[in-house]
Amino acid sequence: MSNARLTAIGMAVPHKAVPNSWFESFLETSDEWILSRTGIRTRYHASENEFTSDLCVRAAQDLSEKFGVDLSDVDMILVSTVTPDQPMPSMACRVQHRLDIKKSGALDLYAACAGFSYGIVVAKGLIAGGLHKKILVFGAETLSRVTDFTDRTSCVLFGDGAGAVLIEADETGNVGHCVTGASGEGGADLYISGFAHEIDGHELKMNRCIVQNGRKVFKWAVTTVATEMKNLAAMNNLTLDQVDWFVPHSANLRIIEAICNESGFPFSKVLESVVDFGNTSSASIPIALYQGIMNGKVKKGDKIMLIGFGGGLAYAGTIIEW
Ligand code: UT7
Repeated sequence: MSNARLTAIGMAVPHKAVPNSWFESFLETSDEWILSRTGIRTRYHASENEFTSDLCVRAAQDLSEKFGVDLSDVDMILVSTVTPDQPMPSMACRVQHRLDIKKSGALDLYAACAGFSYGIVVAKGLIAGGLHKKILVFGAETLSRVTDFTDRTSCVLFGDGAGAVLIEADETGNVGHCVTGASGEGGADLYISGFAHEIDGHELKMNRCIVQNGRKVFKWAVTTVATEMKNLAAMNNLTLDQVDWFVPHSANLRIIEAICNESGFPFSKVLESVVDFGNTSSASIPIALYQGIMNGKVKKGDKIMLIGFGGGLAYAGTIIEW
């Protein structure tokens, strides 16, 4: 059985930075409210002609340049997104074509803010099963396209961006045991509407925008993630003290603080991307990890716990050793 090693990482965001003050021009809100309730200072919004596949391609190019890796022999591409350029073809196929990777499988994953972590789990499984050797995993979103800019409780949160990691078959490996789970009964607490008009009897708003019950998702996230942190550490024969960095999905700085309070994990050992990039859903974990690696916080050999959580409601996580 082959082990999986995360060997390289890249990221991309659109060029247009959107400060909190922008929302003050058309909504009853303030920089002070957004900062104190969410921690967010800036997010990035895609331009009219910029889409999720564009961000994926730029993130892969960044990965290739920063780590000097050749992507031509990648044999599987996994893209986690809830905001594809279009439902078909998949983003993975768009990326495979645009990066000119000749012999690769291509598959999109659909697990919202847990999607990138699920991507790592799937990549690890494909490598362990001997099916693939070199896998590109993306978390990429243009959430500004599905944001309801009349809803002040949600529109200030979301941003656009992409992260990419390379997972390779390797004798020793650095991707540890994983957790996955779902609380599907919370489906109507966080959704983007589609063909069906209801979830479990809850009538949906049909405007193809993100709709959320922020408080319910907040509470679910804190309880679930704090419990799974302990499970994940134990599965990997570690105590939480031995984990050097925690990279939760960056939904809201207050959620992360509450998870730390609940689990006893120090907030000073968190890598987040929400302050500078907003909630970028499946891109938030790779962006936070990338920032931590590039600014020198993460050192060789550090043990890093990743847990994605969100729409579904669903979660997934693992521990990697950098
Ligand atoms: O990626 C995963 C998906 N989403 C999440 O994880 C989101 C989880 N939830 C959250 O992040 C938070 O619940 C929110 C940021 C969405 C809201 O923060 P909150 O502290 O839970 O606020 P609240 O919903 O309890 O609202 C408090 C007050 C309300 O006013 P009243 O009813 O007390 O008069 C809101 O109307 O804040 C008001 N409010 C705002 N005021 C100014 C809500 N949004 C805004 C706003 N500006 N943008």
